[in-house]
Amino acid sequence: MSNEIPNNVNLESDQQLRRALAGWHPHYLEWWREVGPEGFDASRVYLRTAISVSAEGWANYGYVRMQDYRWGIFLAPEVMDRRIGFGDHYGEPVWQQVPGDHRKELRRIIVTQADTEPASVEQNRLLGKTAPSLYDLRNIFQLNCEEGRHLWAMVYLLHRYFGRDGREEADELLYRRSGNPDHPRILNAFNAPVRDWLDYFCFSMFSDRDGKYQLAALAESAFDPLSRTTRFMLTEEAFHMFVGESGIQRIAARTADVMLQKDRDDLFELGVIPLGVLQKYINYWYTEALDLFGGEDSSNAATYFAAGLKGRFQEDDYPEHLALDQTYELRKPDGSIEKIPMRRAMNAVLRDAYVEDCHRGLRRWNRELEHRKIDARLYLPAVCFNRKVGAFAGLPCDPWGKILRREEFERRRSEWLPTEEDRARVAAVMKPVYEPGRIANWIAPPAKGIGGKPGLEFEYVQFN
Ligand SMILES: [Fe+2]
Ligand SMILES: [Fe+2]
Repeated sequence: MSNEIPNNVNLESDQQLRRALAGWHPHYLEWWREVGPEGFDASRVYLRTAISVSAEGWANYGYVRMQDYRWGIFLAPEVMDRRIGFGDHYGEPVWQQVPGDHRKELRRIIVTQADTEPASVEQNRLLGKTAPSLYDLRNIFQLNCEEGRHLWAMVYLLHRYFGRDGREEADELLYRRSGNPDHPRILNAFNAPVRDWLDYFCFSMFSDRDGKYQLAALAESAFDPLSRTTRFMLTEEAFHMFVGESGIQRIAARTADVMLQKDRDDLFELGVIPLGVLQKYINYWYTEALDLFGGEDSSNAATYFAAGLKGRFQEDDYPEHLALDQTYELRKPDGSIEKIPMRRAMNAVLRDAYVEDCHRGLRRWNRELEHRKIDARLYLPAVCFNRKVGAFAGLPCDPWGKILRREEFERRRSEWLPTEEDRARVAAVMKPVYEPGRIANWIAPPAKGIGGKPGLEFEYVQFN
């Protein structure tokens, strides 16, 4: 079976590992059949498959049935004489084995990250049924397959480096289910239903981008196999965020075009998404993603940093790497400042980098409106809005950071977050379009296609 799993981890020569993965493989396929994309088992999809980590090998395009996708195990190439880049072990050689002292924490970090991969496949398993074009249908399947591969990558770490409890954790990853009240996924945003393509694009924009920052922080890890695994995952993650960001951009562009053509208020009646409704979805998914970073003041974050398990985003760019005798200043909605010792504030430091990145996407969306001389603008809500985790949890803040009386907040909630009525109207415009050359009314065509193919005319998915 090792020749079935593309890999650069020398699977051929490690009989024990091969046996462990061979035991897990059928359960993985069972999981895919049960909660993977529904209704497209017979379809051939124009997908990229990683077959090596070289520039030519990591993105091979061709038609495949998704259940035949070759989920591979790839680590970025080893960096010679790599040293620990931060924390108490700064400057020491990186670890090729799990140190006994940090075993529990490392396992927890890996399992928490790994759990998000299958969760996202489960969350959008029904969306193929309402895809706006073959291009978009192909993209959602690409993301599904790559999240499956990310699960493989993390399960490899559990099997290879954590022995029996690693294997048990790997089994649990296939047992938990997104949104299941009895055995849910670990993180909240990964239990939230992704019911339509607005959810999905926002999810890819904001939750996958959280993934980018978490993976980048783990790419700094002193545990070298984790660093190498996550570095390779990041090459794939870039496309996931592109799908989300460009998806929202295309919706904004389409709505703006229709607003210019027809001077009417009820855009749903015209088959497009009003900007106000798009904004509510942004508000919801952005704040769910902020929660994924965890509490601003966190003893776990301090432990992870001190031990060299999890660094900052692009740690090399920081002027020093110990983060001792420094404080982080957390601004509260009432204007006061809470001072947090820097190591304890690493979640907030990572989140700040994330927020800045989200604003870059926002500027691109608003440029679509500016170009068309539409006055409305999209925005990202204040970090205290709609939070369930950390210093702002449960505060009745409006999206501009103003504290309201609780009853006013509850009364106005439907102005800022999607209501059941909004969702029903969104669902009503989302009818599938599966013919080459055509696209749904509510979204603009992509600027270009995939793998050198045209955006709309190419038959990205062949049905059988
Ligand atoms: Fe992923
Ligand atoms: Fe992703």
